[in-house]
Amino acid sequence: MSQAPPPLGTPVVRREGRDKVTGTARYAAEHTPPGCLYGRPVPATIARGRVDAIRAEEALALPGVHAVLTHENAPRLKEPDDPILAVLQNDRVPHRGWPVALVVADTPEGARAGAESLRITYESAGHDVLLTEDHPGLYTPETVNGDYPAVRERGDTDRAFVTAPVQIDATYTVGALHNHPMEPHATTAQWDENGHLTVHDSSQGSTKVRDSLVTAFGIRPQQITAVSEHVGGGFGSKGTPRPQTVLAAMAARHTGRPVKIALPRRQMAAVVGHRAPTVQHVRLGADLDGILTAIDHEIITHTSTIKEFVEQAAVPTRIMYGSATSRTTHRVVALDVPSPSWMRAPGEAPGMYALESAMDELASALGMDPVELRIRNDPANEPDSGRAFSSRGLAACLEKGAARFGWYDRDPRPAIREEGPLLLGTGVAAATYPVYIAPSSASAHAAPDGSYRIRVNATDIGTGARTVLAQIAAEALGAPVENVRTDIGSSELPDAPLAGGSAGTASWGWSVHKACTLLRRQLDERAGPVPADGLTVTADTQQETAEESPYARHAFGAHFAEVAVHSRTGEVRLRRMLGVFAAGRILNPRTARSQFIGGMTMGIGMALTEASTMDPVFGDFTESDLASYHVPACADVPEIEAHWIDEEDPHLNPMGSKGIGEIGIVGAAAAVGNAVRHATGIRLRSLPLTPDTLL
Ligand code: MOS
Repeated sequence: MSQAPPPLGTPVVRREGRDKVTGTARYAAEHTPPGCLYGRPVPATIARGRVDAIRAEEALALPGVHAVLTHENAPRLKEPDDPILAVLQNDRVPHRGWPVALVVADTPEGARAGAESLRITYESAGHDVLLTEDHPGLYTPETVNGDYPAVRERGDTDRAFVTAPVQIDATYTVGALHNHPMEPHATTAQWDENGHLTVHDSSQGSTKVRDSLVTAFGIRPQQITAVSEHVGGGFGSKGTPRPQTVLAAMAARHTGRPVKIALPRRQMAAVVGHRAPTVQHVRLGADLDGILTAIDHEIITHTSTIKEFVEQAAVPTRIMYGSATSRTTHRVVALDVPSPSWMRAPGEAPGMYALESAMDELASALGMDPVELRIRNDPANEPDSGRAFSSRGLAACLEKGAARFGWYDRDPRPAIREEGPLLLGTGVAAATYPVYIAPSSASAHAAPDGSYRIRVNATDIGTGARTVLAQIAAEALGAPVENVRTDIGSSELPDAPLAGGSAGTASWGWSVHKACTLLRRQLDERAGPVPADGLTVTADTQQETAEESPYARHAFGAHFAEVAVHSRTGEVRLRRMLGVFAAGRILNPRTARSQFIGGMTMGIGMALTEASTMDPVFGDFTESDLASYHVPACADVPEIEAHWIDEEDPHLNPMGSKGIGEIGIVGAAAAVGNAVRHATGIRLRSLPLTPDTLL
């Protein structure tokens, strides 16, 4: 008999793959308890003001309409932990698309007809939705997303910049970007006769959903079961519950029936968060050898009037390259816009677009190869803190990527490679993403038949969490992976953090590893067989994760892109893309490759197709569906290669892994933009790179 392969590091097939492709995996909106009603949120049609009156008689007279909830009759909430959840509590309209009513009916069609029959009048106030560089409302916040200080400065950056022999001074803009997971945000909610609330919620973490509902409804955690068994993507927008979660629970309480809400795609942009637009001013000073002496990165961005969320786009600049001086700042203005929030690699994705474009500009100004420029400025220690890196694979990624891509075959001169009407070019950009880790708990159970069961409230948002957790458990138990079952996706399981911040596997996996290690020890120490009801060990990683690491811990990567730009239409087609990542130990090459490629694909969208326009008169984003907001389709995505370097890092967690969910998007748009510059000689500094901007 052949030896079974070691569970970790092997391309184990995703456990729920068959269920998903055969339709047996059920998502939040696919649970239909007996008597289930359907809710349709009604978005505000003014950009700021208040609801004057809502007349519901006509809607209520329609067949099948059961209820119309408004701020006048909806259940009162305690103050929620997130102001976006305080829906139907007063008449205020903070932005267009804010829910002002919910119609509940027997069928989705009935609810929609009811919503269209409401007579709503508003008192409109003037609105201000446009982010400008000189907006009088701009202020410097204390902290930005991730609890980082808004401002960091080392040395006299201004002086170092003006005295630098080579200077880059450029402004880059990234418009708002929208989270459009394939599965829209959805909730099915039901209260039983004992006052127990069950929600099936499309979420990145149902421990958080439970806790938010506990706060909003003022009930005990034991009174709520939040389930997120299968989730069709989130990209950050399902990291916290969204208004439909609260609305469904409210409506279920109000009607005494189960209520299901699936957000229509067109309502999503206003309530699920978005990547806030950024205006980014970058100044780089360098000596003639390309050694950076000044880095200055200033972010201007927006938040809403109900919540301060500041896209931390200058934060990656603090750790990327060595420089004697450095200043990174964020300013924000509260506008009458929907609340921004997390979107895959918040901070890093837009910030590294600007920094890595500026590095390309610097390489051009120096006449230096952009790979070489980055390697020359690779710092020995983390510039911001002086701490040693636990591992830093940037140079290795650049070198391996350059070799695999055939980078050095390129003639660095711009606009000289022609193929009929096409201009061809190649570009490179670096990537980074921090190592986050959160405390988690898990239990491990050994049955007498030699099988194991792992329980942890992890979430699979498409990553294959069940599979990799089974691998981690099997490794710790010394058991075949087939003998390990993993139960995830319910708040009835041991508490665990959300699938976000690229921290899921490291956080959940650590507690699984610990529980399994303890269980294995108990099994080894036992004299007799496993008792009939089995053995269970529960563990948490509060202690292990309490202290900040003495090391600076980040994943790194490098993207290489080749584009063809049509000289008459301005159309940019990506020809090929190759990424190399240094993210600790890769636990499952099959599912990891899929996440890297997914991130890079999202970066292609950011570079070429995803565009959102704020209409200052209308007072909202104009692209609210997938017909107008273009996420990349198959034809936009050529062959993408994702590779990694073998990185042994003992300072992370027992598995030796860094996160991989977000780094794929970071820097991808810059690589494409730099390739367009190489192809055409035109330096664009605003995304996306649409044909009209190239002509
Ligand atoms: Mo991710 S944007 O941290 O869910």
